[in-house]
Amino acid sequence: MDINFDNLEEFKSEIDGASSIIELNDIKVKYFGKKGIVSSINKELGKLDVEKRKEIGERISKIRDKFDGQFDSRLSFIKKEEINATLKDEVIDVTLDGYPYKRGSIHPVNLIYQEVIDIFMSSGYEVVEGREIEDDYHNFEALNMPKSHPARDMQDTFYVDEDVVLRTHTSPVQIRIMEDRKPPIKMIAPGKVYRSDYDMTHLPMFHQIEGLVVDKGISFGDLKGALRLFISKMFGDDLDVRLRPSFFPFTEPSAEVDMGCVQCRGKGCRMCKGTGWLEIAGCGMVDPEVFKSVGIDPNIYSGFAFGMGIERIALLKYGIDDIRLLYGNSLKFLRQF
Ligand code: DAH
Repeated sequence: MDINFDNLEEFKSEIDGASSIIELNDIKVKYFGKKGIVSSINKELGKLDVEKRKEIGERISKIRDKFDGQFDSRLSFIKKEEINATLKDEVIDVTLDGYPYKRGSIHPVNLIYQEVIDIFMSSGYEVVEGREIEDDYHNFEALNMPKSHPARDMQDTFYVDEDVVLRTHTSPVQIRIMEDRKPPIKMIAPGKVYRSDYDMTHLPMFHQIEGLVVDKGISFGDLKGALRLFISKMFGDDLDVRLRPSFFPFTEPSAEVDMGCVQCRGKGCRMCKGTGWLEIAGCGMVDPEVFKSVGIDPNIYSGFAFGMGIERIALLKYGIDDIRLLYGNSLKFLRQF
């Protein structure tokens, strides 16, 4: 076997010429890899006699040592060069300004939601929460709306199953609170409600706030006073308030609450369809049937209740005419609040 060791030692100049770790490794593979030059020599060694095998083996081992020495020194040289290049490229100027970024803002529905809660809290109402998945009993039955009651059709209901619904209003919280405690009760229950409805003025999910006050001697006058106070704090104290006779199964008597139009302040405009009035809530005196279903004696106690939509308040307050804008997630729209 004729082995040209000079040829084998060509790597010296190759190693010095390598300018990256990858190139350097390629050289190692070329000589010492599985299919490299040295491996092919090693395969031939078996054919030689012992003496010769030993001699060549030793030479190869010396060459390997030399290779490794040169390889390592080139490797550390290349690494140093790479670090220097990175340091040069990535100069950080700590005195530069940071990147500007836009701050988020509170969603208009949340703004109004919080404002409504704050107003009632400042009048001494306790804030309570119910559940969004309700049973038929609390959502309807105990509110004087038995199974076949036509008033159920007023609320297009999402049924989870025959006896479980996504609550269609916050009124079931009245029942849960009165089941739990004795009067006096003075509470509001804000939260999400669900109805199978979708157009310019209706959404399948929206927010309501329920109010309930129960004690001895609570009157219709108290109800009107409470609503008037809320409206004046929310929309301004120049707006008139009127209660228009209506019907809800859980209040008797019942009324719709109208307030002077926020745009024309009662004179009549497009927003109020020329009437000067805008509807803002439903209300009434707690029906004795409801008191009976929670075990409160209607001969001793009386109470009032009201319910209103938070989105509707937001639309009126900000002069928005399409409720769907509130949930369109357009930043251009949302940044205005
Ligand atoms: N729960 C009614 C609805 O969603 C609103 C309502 C009306 C609530 C009168 C009340 C009330 O508490 O007294 O349509």
